Amino acid sequence: MKPILKGKRIILRKPQMKDSTSWFQEIRKIPKYKKHAKTKEQAKETIKELIKEWNAKKKFNYTILFDKKLIGKITIKEIDEKNKQAECGYWISPDFQRQGFAYEALHLILKEAFKKLNRIYFYCREENRASQKLLEKIGAKKEGILRESLIEHNKKTNQFIYSILKKEWK
Ligand SMILES: CC(C)(COP(=O)(O)OP(=O)(O)OC[C@H]1O[C@@H](n2cnc3c(N)ncnc32)[C@H](O)[C@@H]1OP(=O)(O)O)[C@@H](O)C(=O)NCCC(=O)NCCS
Repeated sequence: MKPILKGKRIILRKPQMKDSTSWFQEIRKIPKYKKHAKTKEQAKETIKELIKEWNAKKKFNYTILFDKKLIGKITIKEIDEKNKQAECGYWISPDFQRQGFAYEALHLILKEAFKKLNRIYFYCREENRASQKLLEKIGAKKEGILRESLIEHNKKTNQFIYSILKKEWK
């Protein structure tokens, strides 16, 4: 995957250590992701790890930049070269949601991923209507439900699995 993908309003780029401060500030605004950045030090370690994974070509974790500001992230991971598939995940800072940024980021990353891959899939909590609608808008299909596939704070949660195939992508 290319280290920089340029869209109309946003840029997706490989993480850099200087991202850790804004990563810390923005991810903490999403309550369920707060645990991923308890301290500034933990955020630094996360960015370090993301750069390492990128360099190992295991996981491509793009920071989403708007007006030079980090507003979220979008990732291609679990790359399965034999079956030409990978998983995608994302978040957008609440301050920048509902402005089409996730849609634009998904568009950019799918365009790049489909140069080599055939199937991109997404896990999505059953109650996450925003993410489901986003995936439906981009043209992904719901494949089914993964019953009680997540346990968070002792609560068993169902997830949906969505996917989009290269031939469905335009
Ligand atoms: C899901 C998420 C990434 C959407 O990001 P976003 O930038 O706000 O999404 P967009 O503005 O690009 O919206 C695209 C479409 O998604 C749907 N959508 C987005 N937010 C929505 C909401 N809160 N409620 C209902 N539909 C929503 C709409 O269909 C929207 O299209 P429309 O504006 O034409 O109606 C964002 O809400 C988020 O980061 N949530 C927390 C983290 C998360 O849940 N990540 C996904 C894990 S599976």
